[in-house]
Amino acid sequence: MTSYGQILLTSSAPDLPFALERTAGESLTSQLRRRLLDALRSGSLRAGVQLPSTRALAAQLGVSRPLVLDVYAQLAAEGYLILRRGARPVVAAVGATMAAEAQIAPPTDHIRFDLRPAMPDVGQFPRKAWLRAIRNVLGELPAGELGYGDLRGSIVLRTVIADYLGRVRGVIADPSRIYITSGFAEGRALTSAAFHARGIRRLAVENPSYSDWIAVDKAGLTRIPIPVDERGMDIDALDASSAQAAFVTPSHQFPIGGVLSADRRQRLVCWLRDRNGFALEDDYDAEFRYDQAPVGALQGLAPDRVIYAGTASKTLAPALRLGWLVVPPDLVGTMNDELRRWSEGPPRIDQDALADLIESGFYDRHLRRMRRLYRDRRDRLIDRLARALPGLEIEGAAAGLHVTLRLPAAIDEASEMAIVAALGRRGVATEGLSRYSRTAAGPRRLFLGYGRASDSAIDQGVDVLAEIVEAAVARISR
Ligand SMILES: Cc1ncc(COP(=O)(O)O)c(C=O)c1O
Repeated sequence: MTSYGQILLTSSAPDLPFALERTAGESLTSQLRRRLLDALRSGSLRAGVQLPSTRALAAQLGVSRPLVLDVYAQLAAEGYLILRRGARPVVAAVGATMAAEAQIAPPTDHIRFDLRPAMPDVGQFPRKAWLRAIRNVLGELPAGELGYGDLRGSIVLRTVIADYLGRVRGVIADPSRIYITSGFAEGRALTSAAFHARGIRRLAVENPSYSDWIAVDKAGLTRIPIPVDERGMDIDALDASSAQAAFVTPSHQFPIGGVLSADRRQRLVCWLRDRNGFALEDDYDAEFRYDQAPVGALQGLAPDRVIYAGTASKTLAPALRLGWLVVPPDLVGTMNDELRRWSEGPPRIDQDALADLIESGFYDRHLRRMRRLYRDRRDRLIDRLARALPGLEIEGAAAGLHVTLRLPAAIDEASEMAIVAALGRRGVATEGLSRYSRTAAGPRRLFLGYGRASDSAIDQGVDVLAEIVEAAVARISR
């Protein structure tokens, strides 16, 4: 099979091997963007490959030059392409890297000190309690329940989750509007498809944010990055955008770590009502809040406009692949249609085992224990950072499984990437802002997880970090 890369590299006037359809019911802009993104994400347009000039591509496809320019500019803003005056666009390294990462699990055997963000301590997975719960379910579940069930998931778990979310997160939920999904990942894909089915095309996303956008892009949604700061998403920027819906992490912005402030919450709800829009609230780690009482879910303020998403990935283990959506009444029909098209949901027996764990009170006890464990690790990390790198600001420490370290002002994107790479070579796994955004403004940041870091990993990891950051700053100021 010929790859895009080969075609482009061997041709002096490269063509992209596709045509656009005028009767497809999808705009030409959207078709071109989707085709290019597919090629970039699949890796068939590899880093370094030159794309046709706007003039050449417009002529090849029979569209206007501004249309091509628009699509190139958007892909450049998202970090996929590099545009230079007078030169043909070049594929940036990030597209290829992300494609490779999406296809295979990144190797982890070189990690000595695991300070990656958002990683729960899977070594604490309550194996005995889970076994007990599975045994209970197998002992009680009638044979008739072992067939294909309700696509929304087990009514046993949906009922338990409705009560749990109401009690713990202030979510207004009815079991009939709860959908059990294969983690947040499936919830996001399902929501994206439902948004598209409702005519939504432009989606506001936090910048920086969780960076796995394949399902969103595949659903045909165009992302509009909206800046975030310590108080969450910038609602002025959202107001000024043409977005019709939004994905948000109000309880603990990922990855910066801010909590969406009360006034911004109110304004976001007004925005949703004014535009008749929807928001997907990713409440991925709200159970882990250490210093103050948890902030209630956004969904509680606007249950008719907010799709609430929760997951067991942080509280128990990602391997369970269990998550849930609470869907506004107005979106239930669309969601059911989407569900019928492509999902049978996670295993029924596991769903009921989770229900058993929650109902028996074990889940709450487990969370209390994990909260204490994570708080101790967080405190140790903060203390160690304050001593090893005094003067550097730590953000987003009130909740979750990681803190954000603001790097010194002299550090630019390239130095930040060099620091993360140097840490990796010394066996310290961390992530930097560039992992989550190539366009976010503001200071460079490192995200340091403590979820699965032992005391010695924290101590030694921070020592290595301090050494590398100081060396980078010294190099710059020479
Ligand atoms: C921001 C964010 N949301 C959600 C999730 C959970 O995803 P899932 O439930 O698919 O494991 C993660 C996991 O890393 C995350 O970082």
